Amino acid sequence: MINYKDLGLVNTKEMFAKAIKGGYAIPAFNFNNMEQLQAIVQAAVETKSPVIIQVSKGARAYANQTLLRYMAEGAVAYAKELGAKNPEIVLHLDHGDSFETCKSCIDMGFSSVMIDGSHLPYDENVALTKKVVEYAHQFDVTVEGELGILAGVEDDVVAETHTYTRPEEVVDFVTKTGCDSLAISIGTSHGANKFTPEQCTKDAQGHLVPPPLKFDVLAAVEKELPGFPIVLHGASSVPQEEVAKINKYGGALKDAIGIPEEQLRKAAASAVCKINIDSDSRLAMTAAVREVFATNPGEFDPRKYLGPARENMKKVYKHKIENVLGSANKLVD
Ligand code: G3H
Ligand code: 13P
Ligand code: ZN
Repeated sequence: MINYKDLGLVNTKEMFAKAIKGGYAIPAFNFNNMEQLQAIVQAAVETKSPVIIQVSKGARAYANQTLLRYMAEGAVAYAKELGAKNPEIVLHLDHGDSFETCKSCIDMGFSSVMIDGSHLPYDENVALTKKVVEYAHQFDVTVEGELGILAGVEDDVVAETHTYTRPEEVVDFVTKTGCDSLAISIGTSHGANKFTPEQCTKDAQGHLVPPPLKFDVLAAVEKELPGFPIVLHGASSVPQEEVAKINKYGGALKDAIGIPEEQLRKAAASAVCKINIDSDSRLAMTAAVREVFATNPGEFDPRKYLGPARENMKKVYKHKIENVLGSANKLVD
């Protein structure tokens, strides 16, 4: 049993309280490998931003949960080496699917876990989330629950359409479970194809414009739970320049579209204090790797294509922090 405090990590409690008060959101970036983690830490240190590094079920299967945990410990030391006096790094389990998974992460030093019971009947979601909270809180680990279902692939469940969060359920859910934050469904979805072209309108230049997020649902949730930390999943913007670069250099991404940045800025200014981004990092990495392979087919040193990939991911992370989420310069020196 290792406590996250011994690893130099923090939980989300104070971080979220400050973010809500300050009208910004904490970036929650998924990581699966060293280059992603290096890019995240460099971006967070250079912008003086708190950051959540999160590990999905897929990441645990791909990279090994123990190795990822040690990498997170290394991330704190690396941030300090890069000049951060008091780095604020949360190690979070993304889309925890069972009590056992959450317990295993808590026992090995995660400072925050998500228990995703959103696809379960309401009472079962309450019971499961409550069980995780009771365990996690003994060790000061914070817990994210979820109400409502995002369209797309979530927790191995593929939903054709969104089931928006029902604002009338949130007080009961939070009170009964004791969770520390709540992920809600207001029209975002996972992956690089968040909307079909048929769901979009077109602007004067013929570019697809996605349907707006359900800010009325968010406002109703905030009214029910004033000041309570709200989380947005599926919040990548799918930068069209990265998509274009991937396709230019041999990729085949069709109709890739994300959440417009101005909508995320608006959400970040509200009680939304954690914004999850994974796909944009994947796109940045893939675009850079494809460019190297296409322009220099003789290259076979992984550092020569993973290095540019790391730079491109870092550029994306810094842009999110500085220009979209507003979390730059929020660390205490
Ligand atoms: O919520 C989904 C995240 O993007 C993680 O995706 O399960 O493929 O690692 P993954
Ligand atoms: P994106 O696929 O939009 O990056 O969402 C990531 C996410 O929600 C991870 O939990
Ligand atoms: Zn998610």
